[in-house]
Amino acid sequence: MGARTELGSPLFLLNLKAYPRSIGTGAREMGRTLAQFSKMTGVSVAIAPTPPLVGLLASELTIPVLAQHADPFEAGARTGHVPPAAVRASGAVGSLVNHSEHRLPRDAIAAVVRLLEAEGLTAVVCAGDVAESRELAALCKPPYLAVEPPELIGGDVSVSRAKPEVIRATVEAVHQVSPATRVLCGAGIKNAEDVRRSLELGAEGVLVASAVANARDPPAAIQELLGGFPSAPAHRAPTPPAAAPGTG
Ligand code: G3P
Repeated sequence: MGARTELGSPLFLLNLKAYPRSIGTGAREMGRTLAQFSKMTGVSVAIAPTPPLVGLLASELTIPVLAQHADPFEAGARTGHVPPAAVRASGAVGSLVNHSEHRLPRDAIAAVVRLLEAEGLTAVVCAGDVAESRELAALCKPPYLAVEPPELIGGDVSVSRAKPEVIRATVEAVHQVSPATRVLCGAGIKNAEDVRRSLELGAEGVLVASAVANARDPPAAIQELLGGFPSAPAHRAPTPPAAAPGTG
């Protein structure tokens, strides 16, 4: 299989989940906006849409698209499952694995990560705390591990504010057992300051959902969050393209 797509670091990974606003045309608009702001700011981004939209968004967008889930199966007689081979065929470059809202048994996590790797896809393995992060990093040495305390997911208080020690300790624990794994953090991340703190605590990016996917004004939410990345001056306005000589 081909080489894995490099997602970049620090990374803004947007999980669209399946909010009423983030399915259908909402997902396409959020994806286009995220691609546009990534281009303007230079921040590395990726998006994980609801399963029925993975192929469409992968064909429409210029940014990496990930599946929200994959199953530990080869391609074959499977109904409603998501084999990594189907993720690759859809044009996506990787998948979340073991998200808090779609947990898998340990042996399935290891098997999915192996199958994703065999397909040249990037695994972002999710864990709920420091101990689970260490265990899963040791088990499957994934390219990315995202720590998300379940009780903070979807709330208004971010992991970087409520549990900064979890981010710091996860980075340390994961790097002890799998030095090449990049640690992301998520849960309740709502603004640029939450992103800045996460990166200061050692995370190489953030995994965000409701702040954008359930927002009344997703472009404003994306702009705010990307403002927390070092290469993105907060609230930088888009630069209009320069007029060609003689056309002004
Ligand atoms: O996958 C991201 C996620 O679980 C965090 O959700 O809504 O707290 O940003 P949220």
